[in-house]
Amino acid sequence: MISAVERIMKQYIIELNDKRARLLYKKLPKGKRLRSKLILKIAGDSIKSIKTASTVELIHTASLLHDDVIDDANTRRGKISVNASEGNKSAIMMGDILYSKAFFELIDISPLIAKVISNSVVELSLGELADVELSKRFHTNRDAYIKMLYQKTASLMEASAEAGAILAGKPREVYRRYGKNLGLAFQMIDDILDITSDSKTLGKPALHDFKEGKVTLPYIYLYEVLAHEDREYLLCLYKKSLSEDEALWIKSAMRKYGIIEKAYQEAKELIDEAIDLMESLGERDLSNIARAMIEREF
Ligand code: FPP
Ligand code: MG
Repeated sequence: MISAVERIMKQYIIELNDKRARLLYKKLPKGKRLRSKLILKIAGDSIKSIKTASTVELIHTASLLHDDVIDDANTRRGKISVNASEGNKSAIMMGDILYSKAFFELIDISPLIAKVISNSVVELSLGELADVELSKRFHTNRDAYIKMLYQKTASLMEASAEAGAILAGKPREVYRRYGKNLGLAFQMIDDILDITSDSKTLGKPALHDFKEGKVTLPYIYLYEVLAHEDREYLLCLYKKSLSEDEALWIKSAMRKYGIIEKAYQEAKELIDEAIDLMESLGERDLSNIARAMIEREF
């Protein structure tokens, strides 16, 4: 049924009646459509669910277009990013077009769902702003980092799950919690994979977060356990293009102090709660989505 979401998204683009927008849309990589899967699994595949899922994917795509401009990224999902191939201005405007069209459509689907989704986009944007601020200098503020993760990544998944529940007449709060946990764990795993995976698997450079100024949870935990001299060395590597030796030093320090396991455990606790919530409602497909998230490799 994800193919129905792709169809409606394409139809929304065709309705814009603009050749340039159609061309730019073709350049966008498809992605995992995780938010759509949540909505359709929770609410079934009525036209309303499919349309809701399509608007959420347009918003998510818009946010990534803007994020790649902000991060000055060259690749997205293993392909050249739109900002890199078409320039920042086109990437920003394509993002604006996608999310404006999404809101236009959402109002007709349901004012309540429109409210839930647009509120999450406010959070998303506040989260990106917090990310920009937190990436300016090295920090060890775990709470600020978790809040930013919630806003930047979990809020739209939380809203997607809640929108699904509204469409299906299911208990909103439980599904919200499920979506929130899934979103937080998703980003935590992303942060871990940046350290443990290679660039081919990731579809983007490995060990890139620290170079971009992103002090993710594993780096916060590593700093906490390091002795004074090693802390100084870690700080020297912050925002630097790492040599092979420096990258190895980070990876082996993470290994030595069991940092990856600690961060992974934190994500796993969130996933376990999400699984329990869904199992208690007999939502086996949704608990399987949570299980797959913790096992993903890219
Ligand atoms: C990826 O983060 C970024 C996000 C999940 C959200 C970005 C949100 C905005 C730019 C707010 C604007 C919103 C709209 C709708 C235009 P990342 O850089 O950590 O992950 P990455 O490795 O996938 O780039
Ligand atoms: Mg980015």
